[in-house]
Amino acid sequence: VENVGILAMELYFPSQYVDQTELEKFDGVSAGKYTVGLGQTKMGFCTDREDINSICMTALHRLIEKNNINLHDIGRLEVGTETIIDKSKSVKTYLMTLFAEQGATDVEGIDTTNACYGGTAALFNAVNWVESSSWDGRKAIVVAGDIAVYGKGPARPTGGAGAVAMLIGPDAPLVLDCGVRASYMTHAYDFYKPDLASEFPYVDGKLSIQCYLSALDNCYNLYCKKMRKVEPDFKGLLSLDGMLFHSPYSKLVQKSLARVCFNDFLNATPEQREQQFPGLSDFSSHKLEETYFDRDVEKAFMAYSEPLFDEKTKPSLHIAKNIGNMYTASLYGGLASYLVSKSPEQLIGKKFGLFSYGSGLASTMYSMNICNDMSAGSKLAKLINSLNEGLSMLEIRQSIPPSQFSESMDVRTKNYHTAPYQPSGSIDTLFPGTYYLVDIDDLRRRFYKRK
Ligand code: ACO
Repeated sequence: VENVGILAMELYFPSQYVDQTELEKFDGVSAGKYTVGLGQTKMGFCTDREDINSICMTALHRLIEKNNINLHDIGRLEVGTETIIDKSKSVKTYLMTLFAEQGATDVEGIDTTNACYGGTAALFNAVNWVESSSWDGRKAIVVAGDIAVYGKGPARPTGGAGAVAMLIGPDAPLVLDCGVRASYMTHAYDFYKPDLASEFPYVDGKLSIQCYLSALDNCYNLYCKKMRKVEPDFKGLLSLDGMLFHSPYSKLVQKSLARVCFNDFLNATPEQREQQFPGLSDFSSHKLEETYFDRDVEKAFMAYSEPLFDEKTKPSLHIAKNIGNMYTASLYGGLASYLVSKSPEQLIGKKFGLFSYGSGLASTMYSMNICNDMSAGSKLAKLINSLNEGLSMLEIRQSIPPSQFSESMDVRTKNYHTAPYQPSGSIDTLFPGTYYLVDIDDLRRRFYKRK
C-alpha cells in the first residue's frame, strides 16, 4: 500500500464559549493577560449535557455522514483521549453503538491515553495497521477528543473542548512521512490527574512549559537528523512549508516556532549563521537546556522568526485561539486550521512538520506531505470544503458570560460522581447533530440522544 494517511476529517466543538477579555475582568487579572499574554480569544466549554462519549460520537457521526461511510468497510477504530469517565470501559466501545446499527462488530482498536498525546498515538496505530501484515484492506477511523477543564486559578483560561474524527487509509491526500518520526518520552510530573475523584489535573505550569520546550528541542533535532539521512539537503524549518504544534495556548506556539529557529541557528555552521541569522551571533554560545526561560534568547528569536511564524504557523492557530486547548484534538485542530487557510492548489506538493506533546511525558515530531496526484487533489478539495463548512459554525456560537461559565463549571464539579443523575444543561443551545447525555442511572450507566 502507498500514501497512507488522512482521507477525510471532521471537527466538533461546543456551541458555547466564554470571551477571554470578559474572563480577564471576571477573574480580576490585568487586561491583556489571557488575550495578549496567552494569545487566546475565546474558550469553548461544555455543560453537564456533554461528556467524552458524546463529543467523540458527535465527531464520528459527522465524519460517517459526510463521507457516506459503510461501517462494514471500517476495520479499525481508535480513540485518543485523556478525559476518563470509566477506568475500564473504553470510549471506543460506546462509539460501537453506531456500528451496531449496521451490524458491524469486526473492528479492532481501543482507547489510548497519555495527556494530549493520545490522539497522535491513535493516529500512528491506525497508519501502522494499514501498513502492516495484519491489514485486511479496510479503512481505519481515529477519534481524538477531550474536555479540558481546570480548577479556579491561572490555568483555567487555558481550557477548551472538542473532538476530531479522521478517516485513515491508502491513497490519501495527507500522507505521513515514513521512517523519520522522532519521539522523546520521559518521566515528569508537569501535568497529571492522580485525583480520580476530580475532573481537574494537578499542574505545575512553569514546569509544563519547560517540559514542552525541552521535548520540542529533543524531537526537532532528532527529526532533522533522520530527515537528513533520507534528504541530505534538508534545511530544517527552511525545508518545511508549515510547522504545526500542539497548542495549550497560542503564545506558547509562537515561542515554539522561535525555539525551532534557535535550534536551526545552533545547528548551523558559522558561515550559515552569518548569512541566515544576521545580528544573532551573540547567542552562539547559549545552550538549549539553559535557555527555556531566557528572555534575551526568546526576544531575539521571536523577532527573527516573526515572518516565518506568519507564514508557516499562524494559519494553524485559528481554532486554538477560538476554542482553547482541546488536548488530544489540539494538534489536529491546528491541521484543520492550516488546511482551510489555503486553497488545494496552494497546498499540493507541500510538506509540513507536526509536534505532538502530552505531559507526563510523551512527544513526537513527524511530518506530512500533501500528495500531488489528481485523485488526491480532488479528495483534498473535498476535505477542505467540508472543514470549512464545519468551521463556519465557530461564528454562530453563543457567548456565555463568565459568571454563567463559572456556575456551569461548579455544576460539573459538584456532580462529577453523582448517580443517578439528570443533567440540567440546556439542549436548545446545542448544534443540530450533537449527541447529549440524557441520564446516568443508579448503576452509573450513561444514556444519550442525538439532537
Ligand atoms: N498584558 C500582556 N501580557 C501579560 C499581561 C498583560 N496584562 N499579564 C501577564 N502577561 C503575560 C506574562 O508576561 C506571561 O508572558 P510570558 O509567558 O511571555 O512570560 C503570560 O502573560 C502569562 O502570564 P503568567 O503570569 O506567566 O501566567 P500564569 O503563571 O498565571 O499562568 C500558565 C500561565 C502557567 C500557562 C497557566 O495558564 C497554566 O498553568 N496553564 C496550564 C498548563 C499548560 O497549558 N502548560 C503548557 C504545556 S502542557 C499542556 O498542554 C496542558
